Amino acid sequence: LHTAYRRQRQMCIRDSVQPTGNLHLGNYLGAIKNWVELQKEFECIYCVVDLHAITIPRTPKEIHEDTLEVTAGLIASGIDPSKSVLFNQSQVPHHSELAWIFNCTAKLGWLNRMTQFKEKAGKNRENASVGLYVYPTLMAADILAYKATHVPVGQDQKQHLELTRDIASAFNSSYVEEFFPLPEPQIFDTASRVMSLRDGLSKMSKSDASDYSRINLRDSIDEISLKFKKAKSDPNPLHYSVKELEDRHEAKNLVGIYSALSKKTETEVLNEFGGKGFGAFKPALADLAVSVLEPINHDLNKLLEDKGYLIDILNKGSQKAAKVSGAVLSEVRNLVGFVR
Ligand code: AMP
Ligand code: TRP
Repeated sequence: LHTAYRRQRQMCIRDSVQPTGNLHLGNYLGAIKNWVELQKEFECIYCVVDLHAITIPRTPKEIHEDTLEVTAGLIASGIDPSKSVLFNQSQVPHHSELAWIFNCTAKLGWLNRMTQFKEKAGKNRENASVGLYVYPTLMAADILAYKATHVPVGQDQKQHLELTRDIASAFNSSYVEEFFPLPEPQIFDTASRVMSLRDGLSKMSKSDASDYSRINLRDSIDEISLKFKKAKSDPNPLHYSVKELEDRHEAKNLVGIYSALSKKTETEVLNEFGGKGFGAFKPALADLAVSVLEPINHDLNKLLEDKGYLIDILNKGSQKAAKVSGAVLSEVRNLVGFVR
């Protein structure tokens, strides 16, 4: 009996857009922790998207430092560069090349519908870069240059993935059926929305003006403890059931974070803390968070002391990535009819 088993190729992408490059607890619980698990089963490709980062103005120093900081954050969180491919986008020119071809496949009407462009460009649309407008065709290239079949993305990226499927279908019908797979989004349920520690109704985010709204992976133990102790809550003891927490947004968020960090269900957490007030719950949460995040923080800071090591990892990862994407691009050039 002969069984052919081909591992699914999984694509995980993290961009490095923010000036401080800081990864926070929302990124960790909502995305990175899941990516670490995916490596066990799938062939994974992790890309720090520095080409996307320059769609809004950045200084060279910011681009350079953010890329290294995000790389260090991913490794410290458990992404293993010897098992998976970890690299930065600009070192593999196939992304830009395929993005150009997709600019000629995608229609203006498709891009005009993209809500992220509308949000990021804001009122002053005439002044947005062309790169920001075609951001989604570069994202499609990131995925399809590896013929990736599954892409773990947050809810906000579903529209871009839909566009990637449209581009893949259009390319396939122009040239050859089933050339590109139609990639599936993978959305994880656990901690898919970690909320701000200051407001249980808005997402924890790197762009929130208050640093007390989020836990950064680079925060010290003291900062983590202090932020949880100062987190907004309410004067009532915790309920015994998850359903009763529904309208207590801050309480629900803190219980959700405890559950994700401890890998216990919310019901189990409430079995332990139901009837107790935040005076007891918050210190327990702070201790738990410190126990999970302290090793990550330690490794992250250590990795950042050796920039040469991080650059070496990105260079080697880029070579591995370019082997895969180079083969795909070679086929694409033939299909399009370019003379070579
Ligand atoms: P961003 O930092 O917005 O570029 O997001 C990178 C990844 O982290 C995405 O896959 C998001 O889904 C995830 N993420 C960001 N913020 C949160 C949050 N507050 N809760 C859960 N996941 C998040
Ligand atoms: N656009 C994604 C975001 O804002 C980042 C990204 C770029 C991406 N290329 C990708 C995500 C390819 C998944 C696959 O979060």
